[in-house]
Amino acid sequence: MTLKTILSVGAAALALGSLSSAPAQTPGKVDFETQVLPIFKERCFDCHQKEHTDPKTGKVKKPKGKLRMDNPELMLKGGSEGGDLTPGDAAKSTIYTSITLPETDELAMPPEGKGDRLTKEQQDLIKQWINEGANFGAWKGAEK
Ligand code: HEC
Repeated sequence: MTLKTILSVGAAALALGSLSSAPAQTPGKVDFETQVLPIFKERCFDCHQKEHTDPKTGKVKKPKGKLRMDNPELMLKGGSEGGDLTPGDAAKSTIYTSITLPETDELAMPPEGKGDRLTKEQQDLIKQWINEGANFGAWKGAEK
């Protein structure tokens, strides 16, 4: 083996190594359905989906703040109190800013006492997804 071969083999091994140890979030775009939707489903849908009857209590549940997050068009349309999603600008999107507020803030989501804060990783994932254009991919969500 010449020195040159050794060097290039080494470089290839290094490149492979860095690929397999790549962090979960970056590089590359965030995928809505596999990365963001599961968080919304688990942490937001309970209060922000189409009006439905709660199977446990038998009570009719309306979407809070008139914000529905179970349909892409309705999420973009936003809610009654200025809740919104601005593709490309997470800082202007209350769907993101509300999750970064401390629990005691009245605009914090989920609301005080209604569950843990989202983790920093989840917050960053949502931020990245919005800043990349809030692309929903093939997701159609629930009917309007
Ligand atoms: C336990 C119920 C509950 C959960 C869970 C919840 N919300 Fe809310 N959300 C509310 C209520 C109630 C309001 C209406 C404003 C208020 O009273 O604070 C609201 C309002 C909002 C608004 C403002 C909408 C508008 O225009 O009025 C946004 C944005 C929002 N929520 C985002 C989220 C996100 C993102 C999640 C998930 C991380 C989430 N919410 C989870 C109850 C909830």
